[in-house]
Amino acid sequence: MSAVKSYEMVNHEYDVVVVGAGGAGLRATLGMAEKGLSTACITKVFPTRSHTVAAQGGISAALGNISKDDWRWHFYDTIKGSDWLGDQDAIEYMCKHASAAVIELEHYGVPFSRTKEGKIYQRPFGGMTTEYGEGPAAVRTCAAADRTGHAILHTLYQQSLKHNAKFFIEYFVVDLIMDNGVCRGVVAWNLDDGKLHCFRAHMVVLATGGYGRTYFSCTSAHTCTGDGGGMAIRAGLPVQDMEFVQFHPTGIYGAGCLITEGVRGEGGILRNSKGERFMERYAPNAKDLASRDVVSRAMTMEIREGRGVGPKKDHVLLHIDHLDPKVIEERLPGIAETAKIFAGVDVMKEPIPVLPTVHYNMGGIPTNYHGEVVTIKGKNPDSVVPGLMAIGEAGCVSVHGANRLGSNSLLDLVVFGRAAAIRAAEIIKPGAPHKMLKNATEFAVGRFDDVRHAKGSLSTAVLRDEMQVTMQNHAAVFRTKESLQEGVEKIDAIYKKLGDIGIKDRGLIWNSDLVEALELMNLMPQAVATIHGAHNRKESRGAHAHEDYPKRDDKNWMKHTVAYVDDKGKVKIDYRPVHMKTLTNEVEVIKPKARVY
Ligand code: FUM
Repeated sequence: MSAVKSYEMVNHEYDVVVVGAGGAGLRATLGMAEKGLSTACITKVFPTRSHTVAAQGGISAALGNISKDDWRWHFYDTIKGSDWLGDQDAIEYMCKHASAAVIELEHYGVPFSRTKEGKIYQRPFGGMTTEYGEGPAAVRTCAAADRTGHAILHTLYQQSLKHNAKFFIEYFVVDLIMDNGVCRGVVAWNLDDGKLHCFRAHMVVLATGGYGRTYFSCTSAHTCTGDGGGMAIRAGLPVQDMEFVQFHPTGIYGAGCLITEGVRGEGGILRNSKGERFMERYAPNAKDLASRDVVSRAMTMEIREGRGVGPKKDHVLLHIDHLDPKVIEERLPGIAETAKIFAGVDVMKEPIPVLPTVHYNMGGIPTNYHGEVVTIKGKNPDSVVPGLMAIGEAGCVSVHGANRLGSNSLLDLVVFGRAAAIRAAEIIKPGAPHKMLKNATEFAVGRFDDVRHAKGSLSTAVLRDEMQVTMQNHAAVFRTKESLQEGVEKIDAIYKKLGDIGIKDRGLIWNSDLVEALELMNLMPQAVATIHGAHNRKESRGAHAHEDYPKRDDKNWMKHTVAYVDDKGKVKIDYRPVHMKTLTNEVEVIKPKARVY
């Protein structure tokens, strides 16, 4: 680290600092402020531009507005969907609180679509069933047309403002302030005027989203650079289950934009070059509404066996041209527009070309169901890191295990955003004095200054491209020993090149190349953890489909991967047990069994 030149530092003190203003960050911000804690929300983009805005199909909750439902069936489906890697206490917490969380959103003002009776509209989604998998498909996903995330995000932002939360917009958080294992705040960079800010807080909540942009083609926004995970790793904390990367079956071919699973929920059908509804062969009951890992694998197999469409036979088709145009106009207006713009397709007349596309990270910073970050260091694998929480896609609570069910993500955001606020209010006394540290900002400022003046020969864009192509080719829907071994070697070599990065317009205090370099430095250790975790896991489970180990192996592998990455990119992998316990006697632990749809 170079000798740090002096930077003007703007100082702030809050009870809580939330980093990120997506669904989880805003729900936590609102909750903390509502509870009388002075709350700052720091975000690198305008709150309503956070990636939650792109969530389409809906939020799950067993409201039973359309047909009979029960949160215990939702609990069962989520465990089965997770391929028994999800922590059952956390899954119980999420499913049990789902209905109240959705009704609360309705009361906050979310404009849900309505049934004829005026109830919240619900649609079927993949892997959601009734009667513990024995009954018909559940109709559980609550929707605001196909713009549910947009509706939720705008509502939560307005509510946060109403409760006087303070927003720091277009500020990039550089690093955590750590003090002997306790988090005491963050250092952030104001992208508008280039000044550095020190935020002291009794609780820092990382709600920075996923690390989808480690991949070349993904539905995630360009801003999904796993900034919270990067900060946690630099603070010596672990990340968990990073090898479980969800491919959404229906990204638009070539463009990567999301076409919601709600399309299949409303009756859309996938077909191959022979016009076959091929999902009938892979999931005879659920068909096109099997869970995402199952559908993505089936599509990949159809393409591999020569039944793909297009000149390269490298994608399949999603049909909704048989649906009543009214359904499309009322329930799916957004995807009709997206398909027109990005695929040139009129969905009333033609199918949409689609391909499995990276969509979601099941892994993240390990937490308990209060949102508190846990670490496996020491005797207790669930000991808490004081002053630090992680929620939403940045965290791994773990309710999604090895594969997330569609519409459980928006639910995770609001349930655990709310849980974090409840917990913070229990442990923080509003206005309590902050510990004054001598060198609080030294680590963050030193690193920032080093990157800002980096004079190497490699550009951020070139290195990012190398990382993204490697991840896309070596940690894909199907993985093999050879592809992973080669991937590990390539990614380790790319990590080493970070030391030779050069910043354009060096020294300028406002510099977009510097933002992208800092983002790449957050992404890289997570790419490393992902591919090493995948290489180590000698089984197939959920989204990790290993062709050399095609079966799930509960005896040896029903455990969470925990990875530490040091500043040289060296990975240490450990494991921690899955929580096979419940919080109450309202549900029983669901024992592992074969996962068929
Ligand atoms: O398909 C979708 O609308 C995505 C939903 C989700 O990822 O939960």
